[in-house]
Amino acid sequence: MTTVTTSLTVHPVASRLSAADRAARLRKPAFGSVFTEHMVSARWTAERGWHEAELRPFAPIEMPPSMVGLHYGQVVFEGLKAFRGENGEVALFRPDEHAERFRNSARRLMMPPPPVELFLEAAAELVRQDQDWLPADPNMSLYLRPVLFASEADLGLRPAVEYRLLVIAFVTEGFFGSTLKPVTVWLSEEYTRVAAGGTGAAKCAGNYAGAYAAQAQAAAHGCDQVVWLDPVERKWVEELGGMNLFFVLGAGDRASLLTPPLTGTILPGITRASLLTLAGDLGIPVREERLSAAEWRDGCRGGEITEVFACGTGARVCPVGEVRSATDSWTVPGRGEVTARLAERLFGIQRGTRPDHHGWLHHIGERGAG
Ligand code: PLP
Ligand code: COI
Repeated sequence: MTTVTTSLTVHPVASRLSAADRAARLRKPAFGSVFTEHMVSARWTAERGWHEAELRPFAPIEMPPSMVGLHYGQVVFEGLKAFRGENGEVALFRPDEHAERFRNSARRLMMPPPPVELFLEAAAELVRQDQDWLPADPNMSLYLRPVLFASEADLGLRPAVEYRLLVIAFVTEGFFGSTLKPVTVWLSEEYTRVAAGGTGAAKCAGNYAGAYAAQAQAAAHGCDQVVWLDPVERKWVEELGGMNLFFVLGAGDRASLLTPPLTGTILPGITRASLLTLAGDLGIPVREERLSAAEWRDGCRGGEITEVFACGTGARVCPVGEVRSATDSWTVPGRGEVTARLAERLFGIQRGTRPDHHGWLHHIGERGAG
């Protein structure tokens, strides 16, 4: 357990919303639609490095029409969460891992990686200032969205020399709500998410825009999410649009887990890594091995695959109940026991009802006077 302190300049709002006003805004908010009262902003230039790091009221920002990020897509982001424990204390879940992934994403797009300390201070101060937004409801969390973009005004085709970091936050119950309700997924045989040698392991904005066409097809076929196949053979299962995938083989004491390996075209999920660790704690064998779409189908039909679930910060843990493609469809059998056990472990640590043996929670502490 680490306590994060901050050296950001802090300029909070002159007067905070009342509890009643916050509650009114939080009545059934869609994922990412109602933001808290503050944001963090910092700038980077080649001459000055990181500077003007401050917490200030959440507000629109100005940008030049010729801004590099807008035209050439030099934009990376992160998604991490803070949870309120049963004792009322608020903690960020694995912010150091998110900081490292943010830095890797930035490097892939030739952007200056924000220092880990800046990332941690920004996240911790934003949560500290806006923690009143996070209800005691155990299903709610505060989702933080750090974004780094090229802010230079210049359309020469080269990496920018000016960047801006923002961190904003919203309250969410999760992408698909808080129950372990199974989703239906669309196996995209027409589109791929990224190219081999491309930006698949980075959390860059363009990866998500490129996925919208397949997501629209998924929705048209009554599916919640796209399953991406590998971009070379179009055969091996990779991940979902915003989640990693796990397969449960066998049941009871003989259950084991399989998840696709990090080949460079998959986002290295922090929930994925956490569940791999927790599976180890529970004595469930895990393999990071590829599985083809045909093996998925045959495994479900033959009963060797007993559960399938997706996981991610926004979506938490989410069972997959049915798979559809242009040519086939199948259901995933099983009662979801392994999925539920792993989800309970993870949520228990996040909510402070299970011991944090791995030191994943970073406690925030109280807001100072003012
Ligand atoms: N895969 C993609 C493409 C994602 O956008 C996400 C979400 O961030 C994940 C997987 C899961 O990653 P994490 O568990 O770190 O949120
Ligand atoms: C997340 O789970 O944090 C994601 O980034 C998924 C999606 C909302 C982009």
